[in-house]
Amino acid sequence: MNILVTGGVGYIGSHTSVELLNNGHDVIIIDNLSNSKRETVGKIEQITQKKITFYQGDVTDKQALAKIFQAHHIDGVIHFAGLKAVGESVDKPLLYYQNNLISTMALAEACLTYEVKQFVFSSSATVYGDQTSPMHETMPLLSTTNPYGETKAMSERILQDVIKKHRKLSIVLLRYFNPVGAHSSGLLGEDPSGIPNNLVPYITKVAKGELEKLFVYGNDYDTVDGTGVRDYIHVVDLAKGHVAALEKLKSGLEIYNLGTGKGTSVLEMIEAFEAVNGISIPYQITERRPGDIATCYADVSKIKDQLGWSATLKVEDMLRDAWQFERQL
Ligand code: NAD
Ligand code: UD1
Repeated sequence: MNILVTGGVGYIGSHTSVELLNNGHDVIIIDNLSNSKRETVGKIEQITQKKITFYQGDVTDKQALAKIFQAHHIDGVIHFAGLKAVGESVDKPLLYYQNNLISTMALAEACLTYEVKQFVFSSSATVYGDQTSPMHETMPLLSTTNPYGETKAMSERILQDVIKKHRKLSIVLLRYFNPVGAHSSGLLGEDPSGIPNNLVPYITKVAKGELEKLFVYGNDYDTVDGTGVRDYIHVVDLAKGHVAALEKLKSGLEIYNLGTGKGTSVLEMIEAFEAVNGISIPYQITERRPGDIATCYADVSKIKDQLGWSATLKVEDMLRDAWQFERQL
């Protein structure tokens, strides 16, 4: 299939492009490079020994999209392009609503105009809000704590309305839990600018000596050791989940969790990083981060039963690969 990957130069998009190419699909990428580097395109090609068609452009730009859909017969799209920094979304709500909602609507419109059959959307476990884990796809969407999370919940609702009217399009909403890790080649990974907000990129910066210590946000949650519990999933497993969703897409709209089904606490993550990489991570317990919940992990039975996909890589693999990527930056 010819797959248009929006945001394909980014962290998850680049790993997914590799898996698509490895599975015999052709990849066309549109990315405005607002949070990624052009050189990543060459790295995807280096890993796969296959060529990509790359357009530097914005998914909110309808004319840019029209040019791509006219130039290629697109069988399916995977829509990763979006802004994702929770704190920034609180400071710049309009930027987030404009970028994340208009891109989704412009892309959905282009899919209808050019009769594209398949649409895969990057959603997030954040849409579940503070409910009791394991999170199941049938749970109601509660209000999220920030504009970023709202753009995901709203995009889901927009696409659910689109499918009611346009039955020829198939849509999959993939709710990611906590993607971490990097490609085993060491060529692709997550490289946030500035001080990282997320746990694993922060740990690897401490390991490298660029940051002095990790601040653990709270140890008084009702969890195994009081620290927050999350469902960390290796980005390569996550990428493979997209290929499974695309290849087995049924008609209508389906929602799948992409997680491992297993929760790991912050202290367990630190311990696992130290054990697998042999580097000690100094840390200090500090107050809870506003908006955080105690526990969030997935019920993964639906995607396993319906698509035959499940994650295979362990927390140790994620932390080894994340460190391998960080140390060569
Ligand atoms: P990323 O920032 O690494 O990748 C997103 C890419 O989209 C970047 O290359 C950026 O330049 C591009 N982009 C942004 N807006 C664009 C636009 N209007 N037009 C064209 N390109 C644009 O982020 P990621 O971690 O790879 O996330 C991919 C998707 O998955 C996002 O939609 C994100 O919200 C979602 N998601 C990510 C996580 C996570 O933990 N990384 C969790 C849940 C959901
Ligand atoms: C965060 C976002 C979520 C987004 C996801 C993308 C918030 C509130 N939520 O999820 O919307 O979809 O990233 O990956 O920002 N922690 C520390 N110290 C740190 C960093 C994190 O103790 O320096 C803890 C957190 O309190 C949490 C766990 O580590 O318990 C994971 O945090 P993080 O990696 O930021 O992911 P989420 O908060 O789950």
